[in-house]
Amino acid sequence: MRADSAEPEGSTQTRTASMTKRRMPLRIGILLSGRGSNFLAIHESIRAGRLKGVEIAVVISNVAEAGGIKAAKELGLPTAVFVSRGRKRIEHDANVIACLRAHRVDLVCLAGYMRLLSPEFIAAFPDRILNIHPALLPAFPGLDAQKQAFDYGVKVAGCTVHFVDEHLDHGPIVVQRAVPVLETDDAHSLAERILVEEHIAYTEAIAQVASGNYEVRGRCFVKRSR
Ligand code: GRF
Repeated sequence: MRADSAEPEGSTQTRTASMTKRRMPLRIGILLSGRGSNFLAIHESIRAGRLKGVEIAVVISNVAEAGGIKAAKELGLPTAVFVSRGRKRIEHDANVIACLRAHRVDLVCLAGYMRLLSPEFIAAFPDRILNIHPALLPAFPGLDAQKQAFDYGVKVAGCTVHFVDEHLDHGPIVVQRAVPVLETDDAHSLAERILVEEHIAYTEAIAQVASGNYEVRGRCFVKRSR
């Protein structure tokens, strides 16, 4: 797997990248900090055959007590914990990168990973890190996105799966799913309905990336017709 460039080096507008020359199955590494419902949804999609040609190589958490890491252990998956509190970002990330490499991870999936990645981390997996965000980016990046959207008074909320670049909640968008805001909603009920769509969106996004049948042109994720 590599980044292909059909244009002279340095051309960002026409940069293309894909996973065409990837290994089979695609080995994903999941990074999480909390309950891990997105991780569990991905795991269930693989188990149920909705997500083919993909396997979970390792689940990593920066929080020892994270519910997601407990669930991963119970499922018998390889796990690792690197507690990040009090550590320099670059040193912590070096441990995580080494672990991902040791497990031969092709694609990193951030699933509620509450920690910014260092530039070194992003450079170690170029165009190979996905994140899920509970808002329709570029609206409402950052923390408490569902509440931000609700308080703003939007009529349509949603979620985004995107490639990670050096800016917060910013890289090329792979999948978005919209969620209408109901008159009866509060921020909590809206977040719950967005979460249901997140679980669908992450599987869709991984399937699209795993197919290798796409290009990233500038910041646009474009599916290729066969
Ligand atoms: C999700 O809302 C996700 O969009 C955000 O963090 C939350 C993680 O939830 N980045 P879970 O741990 O996957 O249940």
